Amino acid sequence: MKTKRFTPFKISRLDSLGQGVSKVSEKVVFIPKTLKGDEGEAEVMSEKKGVIFGKIKTLELKSHNRIEPQCVHFKDCPSCHYLHTSYGHELSIKKESFENLFRKIPLPEVEVVGAPQRLFYRNRVQLHYSLKSKLLGMRDPHTFEITPIPNCLIGLPEVLNEVKKLYDNNAWIRLAPPGPLEGHVEIYLREGKIKTSWNKSYAEGGFTQVYEEMNAELKKIITNQFSHSTIHGLLDLFGGNGNLSKDLSFKHRLCVDVYSKTTPETDDFMNLNLYNEKALERIQNKLLKKTDFQLSHLLLDPPRSGFKDLQKWLMVLKPRFVAYISCDPHTMARDLTGLSDYSFSRSILMDFFPSTFHFESIIFLERKE
Ligand SMILES: C[S@@+](CC[C@H](N)C(=O)[O-])C[C@H]1O[C@@H](n2cnc3c(N)ncnc32)[C@H](O)[C@@H]1O
Repeated sequence: MKTKRFTPFKISRLDSLGQGVSKVSEKVVFIPKTLKGDEGEAEVMSEKKGVIFGKIKTLELKSHNRIEPQCVHFKDCPSCHYLHTSYGHELSIKKESFENLFRKIPLPEVEVVGAPQRLFYRNRVQLHYSLKSKLLGMRDPHTFEITPIPNCLIGLPEVLNEVKKLYDNNAWIRLAPPGPLEGHVEIYLREGKIKTSWNKSYAEGGFTQVYEEMNAELKKIITNQFSHSTIHGLLDLFGGNGNLSKDLSFKHRLCVDVYSKTTPETDDFMNLNLYNEKALERIQNKLLKKTDFQLSHLLLDPPRSGFKDLQKWLMVLKPRFVAYISCDPHTMARDLTGLSDYSFSRSILMDFFPSTFHFESIIFLERKE
């Protein structure tokens, strides 16, 4: 058996993944579920190139921002990161993390839109299972260990009710499809109905935002911001089913997304891989065929990988107004660095994922005259 190793820690800041960072000796230690001011001893879980990844063993000094977590699973569950502090403090940690990433970009003061509820909000929950270890729960992205979460509080009540049913008398073991010994199950609420899908790709049936009230708020913000100008032609890239653009008032719109099991290609919807090197040319050709289409507004809502060709696309398409929405501020900052033809009109952090280190952000840009 491997002997356990321990290291003292003293948290001086949090990183963008919500982990406390400590440097008491030569080595940097990252410890989840800590806060600035915490001191104690951590178990060494892994070590790479002199960097230690640890887990709290004892807390000798507690940050004054600590509170008792509302969820019984918080200590072990890898999915929530901030339930050991107040929601107000969670928002300030997120704002600071966002501002740090955008230090080199001349953004206006970051506005923060908090969520109406910190728990009971997700319309979709994904659990992993192993029939070998007879475990169902949240899987740690590094160790792949599964933590059972029968009393999780993150989902909407209807979703959590269904999660509970899977745990009751280990019902999930009977319900898991025959074949693979490991897999995942997704429980989601769509159009008022609860659905359960086993071992299908994430967001089966098409992407939807997990926090519906925040999605409505985001759409309101886009509508208000774009209402200062007339939308002649709108390009909605990574548009999904047109969620963000369909309620705007525009003369023409083209929505582009790669998935299209449910959405056939039409005059205003294009099924296209936007990372393909011919994508820009194909969109230009489609726009040329649309009579009277003058591109004025660009909406852009890529997955976590972002859109690293953004500057090239802006140089070619020259939209006057741009709204870049992102669920990963790292790739967003990369894509917006060095942009010289545009000025930044507004930047907003929207907390679509309370209790976790994730959030959405939206940055509005305007082409310089
Ligand atoms: C963050 S979601 C945004 C969807 C939409 N704007 C909304 O609000 O529902 C990202 C979208 O990018 C699409 N996507 C992912 N990779 C893509 C690619 N290579 N080309 C085009 N679309 C892609 C996904 O299908 C998904 O709909």
